[in-house]
This record gives sequence, C-alpha cells and structure tokens, in this order.
Amino acid sequence: MNIKNCKTLQIPKISSPRGSLSVIEDSNILPFEIRRVYYLYDIPAGESRGGHAHKILEQLIIPISGSFDVKINDGSHEKVITLNRPNVGLYICPYIWRELDKFSSGSVCLVLASQPYDESDYFRNYEEFLLEIGKLK
Ligand code: TYD
Repeated sequence: MNIKNCKTLQIPKISSPRGSLSVIEDSNILPFEIRRVYYLYDIPAGESRGGHAHKILEQLIIPISGSFDVKINDGSHEKVITLNRPNVGLYICPYIWRELDKFSSGSVCLVLASQPYDESDYFRNYEEFLLEIGKLK
C-alpha cells in the first residue's frame, strides 16, 4: 500500500447561526462500513499514540476537538498531516504505519473503523511491519 491511498476527506458540514453540524453515513464519504468507533481523549501534553499498522483495518481519523499530527508511513514514504478541523478526517488504508502526536490540550480524536477490535490484525513492531511488506531484508 502507498501513503497516496490515504486521503483527507471533507465531512459534509451544515452551518447555521445555531452552530455547525457534520454528518457521516456509510453512503456519503466513507469507503468502508463502520463496524467500530473509539476515541482518544485526556491525552497528556507531549504524549504520542498509534505506533502500529493494520493488515485489513481501514480507519477514518477525525479531530472532533482540538488538533494533532498524524504521521503516515508505507515503508518507502512518510508524510505528516495536521488535523485541526472537525469536518476534515484522514482516511488510512491497511499496511500504513501511523503515529499520532502534538495533541493540543483537551483534544479529542475520534476513530471510525471498518472492523471490530482484533489484536491479530496489528503490526506493533516497525521492523516486523517492514519485513512483512518486503522493505527489510
Ligand atoms: P492502542 O492500540 O495502544 O491505542 P492507540 O494505538 O490508539 O494509541 O490501544 C490501547 C489499549 O486499548 C490496548 O490495550 C488495546 C485496547 N483497545 C481495545 O481494547 N479496543 C480497541 O478498539 C482499541 C482501539 C484498543
């Protein structure tokens, strides 16, 4: 997989004098059906999250509140994307190593996922990930 397959997606936004509303349905912007939702919050200053890749899981990462950086890496290329708008999410396909850091105070990271939690779907060791995708001999 290539980091070019990971894209920021605009989430439809309905604005009014009463505020904004954004909505995601399986049929509007997502390239997968949502099977799980989780969120990261109360993240201490300077902490990082992620540090893994998946075999089949697809995700959309949304900065519901605040901002943070997502570093994506396919074994050949690396890119850092700052997420700071609640109507812009980052789609991450399988076989992409990701690290999240620079969380602003009080930030909340919402993750929509295509599969239930399954530890056997994870690469948690970067060298093992590189070995699997043929980037480490
Ligand atoms: P971890 O993968 O380290 O979180 P992140 O990559 O987002 O920093 O997960 C932290 C713990 O939570 C770990 O013990 C696995 C567990 N966990 C679940 O039980 N279910 C889930 O859906 C997720 C994402 C994690």
